[in-house]
Amino acid sequence: MDYFDTVIVGAGAAGLFCAGVAGQLGLKVLLVDHSSKVAEKIRISGGGRCNFTNRDTTSSQFISENQNFSRSALARFTPKDFINLIEKHKINFHEKHKGQLFCNNSANDIIQMLLNECDTGGVVRWHGCGIQAVRNKNGGKQHYEIDTANGTVACSALVVATGGLSIPKIGATDWGYRIAREYKLPIIEPRPALVPLTFDTHAWSSFCQLSGLSLSVELSIGGKKNKMSFTEDLLFTHRGLSGPGVLQISSYWQQGMPIRINLSPNEALSSALSRSKLNSRRKIVNELSNWIPSRLAETWIEQGLKMGFEWDKPISDASDKALHALGEQLSRWELKPTGTEGFRKAEVTAGGVATQALSSQTMESSQPGLYFIGEVVDVTGWLGGYNFQWAWASAHACAQAMAARLANSES
Ligand code: FDA
Repeated sequence: MDYFDTVIVGAGAAGLFCAGVAGQLGLKVLLVDHSSKVAEKIRISGGGRCNFTNRDTTSSQFISENQNFSRSALARFTPKDFINLIEKHKINFHEKHKGQLFCNNSANDIIQMLLNECDTGGVVRWHGCGIQAVRNKNGGKQHYEIDTANGTVACSALVVATGGLSIPKIGATDWGYRIAREYKLPIIEPRPALVPLTFDTHAWSSFCQLSGLSLSVELSIGGKKNKMSFTEDLLFTHRGLSGPGVLQISSYWQQGMPIRINLSPNEALSSALSRSKLNSRRKIVNELSNWIPSRLAETWIEQGLKMGFEWDKPISDASDKALHALGEQLSRWELKPTGTEGFRKAEVTAGGVATQALSSQTMESSQPGLYFIGEVVDVTGWLGGYNFQWAWASAHACAQAMAARLANSES
């Protein structure tokens, strides 16, 4: 039976990076993926250009039952460390928005870089190779035996880097959660995150016509103690809302919670409408188009008329009360999603292997020799390169720890 110091399951962002680092630290590494195409999520990420990190990463941009868990790994492998690697491989990149770094050319550059790093570390890669069973041999060098489609191997450390449940059609499975459960490790129920929100078909029917419309808004969720706000673009869809701002809010949303939207974050609408009343004889709907897209203004006014608001008149004839009500509605639009577009459309999975079962220094679980890295862990980043930074940082911490463990066992 072949022996490896570590077998890493999942050749996505975290698995590939962990394999390359561990190999270069002297470990004999086997990287296994059931899919014949590796790192598919990197390939489709960032619209094909991979938003590979965010310059401004801190643990506060991550959602987890334990907000502090990610801190140690993120501090020990920073965006700058990843940028150094990118520069070493002569990959050109640019900053797009709020610290988000993208490849100039293609996400494939990152995949090729990770594969080259694996080659430098002498990593053995088995792609298109399923895992059939894992046996714990209770200590000793050959801690785990793993039956794969290519035969049985033994290893001292087993790393689970199988990611979350989003986009099943490109290879996502629940294997990571299943193995965690097998070893009685706690799981925070996985849920779709960074995902479009949907609404009751009847209630949404009047907004369907706005599908494709995008505008910058302020979105918020939660109460005084746990309020989260994002000022980002919102996109109307046939079934509900999407766009970066909505994806951010969706990661905090749970069934039954309302979200609040200020459709004109840069202008206090009540006062702006009152000022217009003094100077203009245009219809309210036309004045509104100064601050929000005219299609949205028309839909909003149509809705209001059905509800009995007297908004179909020149602004100079409208009552102060009516204009105030209109301004307030548009600045505090509260709505209750009925669901999300689910794992089929989610960029990531929130929840996962509970951090209480893992060491924040090493990513090793309370089951000796069993490690979890990347998205399978209950650490979920905001939109904007944070999820890849977590994949790199957790992978790096794990590789370092496995190398230290090997060095100790040999000394
Ligand atoms: P990842 O999902 O990358 O890899 C898991 C690997 O495990 C896969 O190769 C899979 O085939 C394999 N696997 C699964 N089950 C297995 C099994 N049973 N046996 C063997 N192998 C198995 N993030 C970001 O920071 N910037 C961005 O621009 C984007 N953009 C983006 C776009 C889209 C459309 C999506 C869906 C996601 C993003 N993300 C992102 C999120 C990012 O892609 C994600 O967080 C990381 O890829 C997670 O890395 P992991 O290695 O943990 O899982």
